[in-house]
Amino acid sequence: MHYPDSFSQITQVMKSSLIRELVASTKNIPDLISFAGGFPSPATFPVQQLAELFNEVVKNEGSDVLQYGASEGDILLKEQLMKWEAYELKPEEMVITVGATNAIYYYARCLINPGDVILCEAPSFLGTLVTFDALEADCQSIPMDDEGIIMDALDLKVKTLRQQKKNIKFLYIIPDFHNPAGISYSLNRRKEIIRFCIDNSIPILEDNPYSRLRFYGEPLPTFYRVARTDFAPTNIVTEIVSFSKILGPGLRIAYAKGDKELIEKMVSWQQKVTITPDCVAERVVARFLEKGLMDAHLKNICEYYRPYLQKMLDELEKHMPSSVHWTKPEGGIFLWLTLPEHINADELFIEASQHKVSFIPGSKFYPEGQEKFNTLRLNFTYSTFEQIEKGVRSLAELLNAKLK
Ligand SMILES: Cc1ncc(COP(=O)(O)O)c(C=O)c1O
Repeated sequence: MHYPDSFSQITQVMKSSLIRELVASTKNIPDLISFAGGFPSPATFPVQQLAELFNEVVKNEGSDVLQYGASEGDILLKEQLMKWEAYELKPEEMVITVGATNAIYYYARCLINPGDVILCEAPSFLGTLVTFDALEADCQSIPMDDEGIIMDALDLKVKTLRQQKKNIKFLYIIPDFHNPAGISYSLNRRKEIIRFCIDNSIPILEDNPYSRLRFYGEPLPTFYRVARTDFAPTNIVTEIVSFSKILGPGLRIAYAKGDKELIEKMVSWQQKVTITPDCVAERVVARFLEKGLMDAHLKNICEYYRPYLQKMLDELEKHMPSSVHWTKPEGGIFLWLTLPEHINADELFIEASQHKVSFIPGSKFYPEGQEKFNTLRLNFTYSTFEQIEKGVRSLAELLNAKLK
């Protein structure tokens, strides 16, 4: 049997994540300094607390949590999440999922028919773009400035697509410490986008893994919260929150909040795809929240990461040519560099690997045919201070040589 001949049409053309391939291509380079991955630092995982909770939960609640659980998620976790969110939320407006990845898949599965248009940011998170692509959506990207998607560009895109009789299904956004762009939406832009989407009947999918990783400045309300407070009653926003960058991606716990009828259908997909998230992990996260451990833990993570962000910003300032620009985020795990137009970061990636430093070329974060080649993403949470110093210097030397 030669299985590839039997693959469904969509499986035959389905793309894998180019980022994984890029990261794998540099895996065997000795002493490589990698700013490429999107990994949180293992030093931020609350190992001891989780070890104790796993032990306690299995010992004391094993007969419950080792059984098949509810497809909509553990009610005890939902109760804790409702308290944590600090606004009125009903259990049926929420589904707990196996990471944000599954929540995004279920949302997209509920809404996308082949050929539907999904509006996304330029750049956007590749992991999600490939999911939309696998569902045969037509991803159309909209440029951003440092406050988020540009309103005129959004307006023009929607008008043009509607003139072409395209079916726009939803807008996909990452509100804070954007992956990969490093920006956060201003409050004003959040409001403008919600107003626009309500007026144009375009649902918003808010993918929010990073907003609690804020090292400086004041937190901003999420799109979900702004919609509920300033635009009530509206069900236009569905927000997905992941614990991957807070407690550890291996736990695979996230949740989606949104319209009751939509959540019900997402649960129905979860029933078919995974039955239930990991019940032990769900209960452990519930107990972690119940014991009030989250606030102190988040404070620790932010204190841990802050100097790494600062180090990378300082080194960029010290060494980069003046024609290179970068975002200055107040949190998250990424920075985004914009190089002069004629520098191609795909080519720079190969040269940089030879100089033992790695990043992700920006072109990988756009839908096919809509790429920009003079940008790149740097992660600052997985390297040591020395590596940041050395890696940024090497990168700057390469760019300085090119720009002479
Ligand atoms: C914007 C964004 N969405 C979703 C994910 C995936 O999150 P999860 O581990 O919860 O599936 C990531 C992970 O890096 C991300 O950056």
